Amino acid sequence: MKMLVVLLLLLSLGDAIGGEDEERPCDSKLQLKPRPHSVSILEFGAVGDGKTLNTLAFQNAIFYLKSFADKGGAQLYVPPGRWLTGSFNLTSHLTLFLEKGAVILGSQDPSHWGILEPLPSYGRGIELPGGRYCSLINGYMLNDVVITGDNGTINGQGSVWWDWFNSHTLNHSRPHLIELVSSKDVVVSNLTFVNSPAYNIHPVYCSNVHIHNISVSAPPESPYTVGIVPDSSDNVCIQDCSIGMGYDAIVLKSGWDEYGIAYGRPTTNVHIRRVQLQSSSGSSLAFGSEMSGGISNVLVEQVHLYNSLGGVQFRTTKGRGGYIKDIVISDVKMENIDVAFGASGQFGSHPDDNFDPNALPVLDHINLQDVIGTNITIAGKFSGIKESPFTSFCLSNISLSINSGSSTNSWVCSNVSGSSESVFPEPCSALKSSYSNSSSACFSIQTLNGIAVAL
Ligand SMILES: *[C@@H]1O[C@H](CO)[C@@H](O)[C@H](O)[C@H]1NC(C)=O
Ligand SMILES: *[C@@H]1O[C@H](CO)[C@@H](O)[C@H](O)[C@H]1NC(C)=O
Ligand SMILES: *[C@@H]1O[C@H](CO)[C@@H](O)[C@H](O)[C@H]1NC(C)=O
Ligand SMILES: *[C@@H]1O[C@H](CO)[C@@H](O)[C@H](O)[C@H]1NC(C)=O
Ligand SMILES: *[C@@H]1O[C@H](CO)[C@@H](O)[C@H](O)[C@H]1NC(C)=O
Ligand SMILES: *[C@@H]1O[C@H](CO)[C@@H](O)[C@H](O)[C@H]1NC(C)=O
Ligand SMILES: *[C@@H]1O[C@H](CO)[C@@H](O)[C@H](O)[C@H]1NC(C)=O
Ligand SMILES: *[C@@H]1O[C@H](CO)[C@@H](O)[C@H](O)[C@H]1NC(C)=O
Ligand SMILES: *[C@@H]1O[C@H](CO)[C@@H](O)[C@H](O)[C@H]1NC(C)=O
Repeated sequence: MKMLVVLLLLLSLGDAIGGEDEERPCDSKLQLKPRPHSVSILEFGAVGDGKTLNTLAFQNAIFYLKSFADKGGAQLYVPPGRWLTGSFNLTSHLTLFLEKGAVILGSQDPSHWGILEPLPSYGRGIELPGGRYCSLINGYMLNDVVITGDNGTINGQGSVWWDWFNSHTLNHSRPHLIELVSSKDVVVSNLTFVNSPAYNIHPVYCSNVHIHNISVSAPPESPYTVGIVPDSSDNVCIQDCSIGMGYDAIVLKSGWDEYGIAYGRPTTNVHIRRVQLQSSSGSSLAFGSEMSGGISNVLVEQVHLYNSLGGVQFRTTKGRGGYIKDIVISDVKMENIDVAFGASGQFGSHPDDNFDPNALPVLDHINLQDVIGTNITIAGKFSGIKESPFTSFCLSNISLSINSGSSTNSWVCSNVSGSSESVFPEPCSALKSSYSNSSSACFSIQTLNGIAVAL
């Protein structure tokens, strides 16, 4: 049988970290070298009829490939077919390659998905207290893992999970398609993801994560389905992806209240570019609300946000602690969006009663620039936290065409101070009068209902 070329990841580690020349994660060149060994899942008795359960075949194949870790690693090749499986774990120095026409199908029987301890930075499952289902494809403390293909598909068959979620009959928080925990040098590329039970790709406590050229989708009505969730991870590149979800398309997180504060691992040095994002009931691009380990140093550029409830949204609440700071979002095209920009200090719930209400989150140095939007209903909706105002919230060169048709002066501001530069519609007259200093294009969102909304 002809095996497809295998890929080995070689990241120039030193260069991946933004050094003096500020190299961003997507600028570091990915060099994928062929793996010296490859086996097909067929050699482990897998049957691609869409009905036979292949969990053991995947587990046995990966167990076998472990022995190649110190020999340059190996590839597990998945040929065309419909490969039903429950959860399995990856190993280091492994490439999982899905050929064109290969579809990995997630089993719809919950007993085929193991149960895991909660993540330490969350303290419990996100949806239900206690443990959580493990993901379809898992990695724990790995390095050099590539999940790729020639546009093969990973299909979570999530509809049963959405029904259980909606009818409150889940016994544990829903699983994801891919979760990598405490791993480094990870690539996910050239694949299609559909119908995840919950998240699609969840790197948590990871470093050097590259997600390139994937397409991700779930139906608009699928409850809280999310595309990519970089969580307490650093040096993350997401590029050339197209994502359309029930809830958020891409959301950055870093742990939940006292658990996230205690774990203390930020999401930092994230670069997102050339992505098309759509969100039916959440936000195409979001930050938080779980951000207790901090989120910083994020560059998002050349993005197209469309047909979404929210465009860009910052979420937090008292008790989170942590910060969201040094964020630059530029060169954005928005179409058919209800609320273009939002920031809320009253968003989300708490894991339990032990959170510290005095743990105040900080939002600082958020830059939104070079944005063109059409058919926007509300330009901005901001509500800060009185005891910890959001500071240096900067808008520049933003032009939004508001669909209400009634007013061109479509922002209303209160409890907002500062200035803005080249923003149309002009955010508010208060800002205009302090607009003499054009080097400062920033304002602070001081209290609850510091708002800028379309009339
Ligand atoms: C997968 O890894 C997790 C975490 O290390 C472990 O709890 C679980 O038993 C493993 N599952 C299998 C099938 O090896
Ligand atoms: C993206 O993936 C598709 C298959 O899904 C492939 O044909 C194409 O060459 C890839 N593009 C890049 C830039 O890697
Ligand atoms: C990738 O596969 C999906 C699903 O099979 C298909 O809709 C899409 O057109 C394919 N993309 C490319 C670039 O071949
Ligand atoms: C939850 O547990 C109950 C009792 O064990 C079981 O009957 C039910 O099928 C489970 N639900 C799901 C979605 O697994
Ligand atoms: C994606 O596929 C294209 C076309 O086969 C290939 O050139 C590229 O190296 C792949 N990219 C990654 C990151 O796997
Ligand atoms: C404008 O956007 C809304 C969603 O915010 C959408 O329902 C509506 O169809 C769009 N109108 C046009 C003309 O595209
Ligand atoms: C303003 O933003 C648009 C894109 O949204 C860009 O084409 C233009 O060059 C920007 N203008 C300035 C002065 O940066
Ligand atoms: C403009 O604002 C910045 C930041 O507030 C300040 O450092 C600078 O001195 C101001 N420049 C002028 C000309 O007022
Ligand atoms: C502005 O903040 C003050 C103090 O928190 C509050 O009383 C007032 O209602 C706010 N204004 C608006 C319009 O929300």
